[in-house]
Formats: sequence, C-alpha cells, structure tokens
Amino acid sequence: MSILVTGGAGYIGSHTCLELLNAGYEIVVIDNLSNGKLEAMNRVSELAKTDFKFYKIDLLNKKALETVFSENNIEAVIHFAGLKSVNESIETPLHYYHNNITGTLVLCQTMREYGVKKMVFSSSANVYGIPENVPVTEDAPLKPTNPYGRTKLMVEEILRDLYVSDNNWSVALLRYFNPIGAHESGRIGEDPNDIPNNLIPYINQVAIGKRDKLNVFGKDYDTHDGTGVRDYIHVVDLAKGHLKALEKVISTTGVDTFNLGTGVGYSVLDVIKNYENTTSQKIPYIFTHRRMGDIDKCYAETTKANKKLGWKATKSLEDMCLDAWRWQKNNPNGYAK
Ligand code: WQD
Repeated sequence: MSILVTGGAGYIGSHTCLELLNAGYEIVVIDNLSNGKLEAMNRVSELAKTDFKFYKIDLLNKKALETVFSENNIEAVIHFAGLKSVNESIETPLHYYHNNITGTLVLCQTMREYGVKKMVFSSSANVYGIPENVPVTEDAPLKPTNPYGRTKLMVEEILRDLYVSDNNWSVALLRYFNPIGAHESGRIGEDPNDIPNNLIPYINQVAIGKRDKLNVFGKDYDTHDGTGVRDYIHVVDLAKGHLKALEKVISTTGVDTFNLGTGVGYSVLDVIKNYENTTSQKIPYIFTHRRMGDIDKCYAETTKANKKLGWKATKSLEDMCLDAWRWQKNNPNGYAK
C-alpha cells in the first residue's frame, strides 16, 4: 500500500516525503511543478536512499489522476497541491478557486471511485483571518480575509460534508502557522519562484547578497515592538506532524482539525535578531508601510495536536534560522544549477 502525496515536490511536501520514506512508507508523488521542483524529488530520493514513483500531472486532469490510482495501490492521500500566495489570490481569485477547489473536487471524486477515503489535508491558519484572541484555538471563529484563505476553508467544509455523506471517510485538517527552515542536510529547502513573499526566504536572499535589504512591513502593530508577531514552526516539525495525522486517519474514521504551530509568537525584529546572532549574517533593513492584509499577531494553541496526535514541535527559532541559512548558503540559486 502506498501513500499518495499531492504537491510532494513543493517545500512542505518534499520535507514530508522525506519523513515518510525514512519512516518506511511507500509513497507516490504527483505534482504539476508549477511551484514544486523536480530536483527536490531527486534529492529526497538521495537523502532517503530509496526511489519512489513521481507523476508530473495536474489534479485538474482527471484521466491522468485515474491512471495514478489504477497503477498504484493507494491507502491514503496527503494533499498539499494548491496555490498558496495571499497577494496572488487577491489579484487572480478565479485562478485560485479553480485550482484549489476544483482540483480538490477532482481528487476526492477519484479517491471515492477507487475506494480511497483517508486524507490529510494541508489547511492554513489563514482560515482564522484576524484572530480575536491569541493563542488561537481550533474552535476560534473562521473568517478568512482573502481568496487563498477562503479556498482553504471551503475545502475544509467540502471534506466535512463528504464525511457526513459517508462515514467511512477519515480526514485530518492541518492548519499550519508559519513554516520556515529546512532539513538539516541543507539539500532540500524553500525555493520561491520570484521575489519571496515570505519573511525567511527574503531574509535568506539578503544574507546571500541577492537582495540589498529587508523591508519590514510596518512598525505600528499592537505588539511588543510594533512589528508583526507570528508562530514560526520548523518545516521538519511540521512534516512530522503529518505522519502523526496519517497514523490517525489510517486507524480511525471521522474529520478532525489541528493547529500545527509552536504556540510561541516572535516579531519580525525578534526573527532578524535571532537570524543574525545564529548565522553571523548581517541583515540590513528599513521600515516601510504595512502590507495589505497583514495582521498584528497570530500564534497557535497547540494542546489538541499534542493530546490527540501525540505531536509537539521541538525545534527552536535558532534551529529554524540556522537550517534555513544552511540551505540558502549551499544552494544560492535554490534548486537551479
Ligand atoms: C511574516 C511577517 C510580515 C516579508 C503567510 C500566509 C500564510 C502562510 C504563511 C500559507 C509578517 C513580515 C514579511 C517581508 C516583512 N502561507 N514581513 N517583510 O504573512 O504571516 O503568512 O505565509 O498558508 O497563509 O499568509 O507570513 O512570512 O509573509 O510574513 O516585514 O519581506 O513578516 O509583515 O509580519 P504571513 P510572511
């Protein structure tokens, strides 16, 4: 029996594939390589010292997806595939709804046709929108403020409705906070296509000399130093959380939701200071205006994942900064030669 990983050539997907292989799972990966990189798959195979099947297909191509299910004995699916830029989703909502929602509908229909009813879904803390309280619990109000976050919430609702219609389904909805860092080998990591939207990939590019400075988006937030506070979680901790969720969906039925974060919030200035101290790389920065859609603070209440999945993030912000820098230093141009 194999685990199908959609979007497995992406940042979180590739780290999860490595943990799955190291844990002895057989995996099959599909990815349309719109964001993911084929080289990441080569390196995962190198690190795990084992091969696995990779299909370059788009979830919207149902015929191609059916081939994957007919050629492999799929036990469960970890579903990462989806577009994930907040800014981009505001500019091109139809593209986001079609890709993220229709793609998931095609996947679920095909899973049902092949009798595969176990899924771990890559959701996001974005579904909370502007949290009324922090730390954020799983039963906090769900009010996403952008099309990307709304696609994640809509897929959560689709999966809940699927379970109501057929109690044989087993689904874990994982709400990620801010994944950063890289595998300690420095061989796989985050490789954004264009100018990085997110903080750590941008800081990495400043450190490697690709960008001259970091723009800190606003210093008048309601936080200890005025800059945005987020719950940064090491991507390997996050990957391991998926294995715990997979164990749960394989052994039970039902739908459950879990925050995957550390429960600790750090500001932008905290991260810059930690990154500089840990890596000895200077990060010049200037304060600029707020970025549209940004919120003051967001960090997770993590008891539920700890109690029901037996999972807890263990890596520190120092680990995250050091591992992120090692990936960037060893791969100045990401996966490109
Ligand atoms: C973090 C902090 C910025 C870049 C996003 C998505 C979320 C999830 C993770 C998918 C904020 C500040 C950033 C920069 C800065 N992705 N910042 N200068 O916005 O919390 O979350 O990525 O699920 O859905 O919304 O992450 O890394 O973009 O920003 O000052 O160049 O760093 O204002 O306070 P964010 P981020």
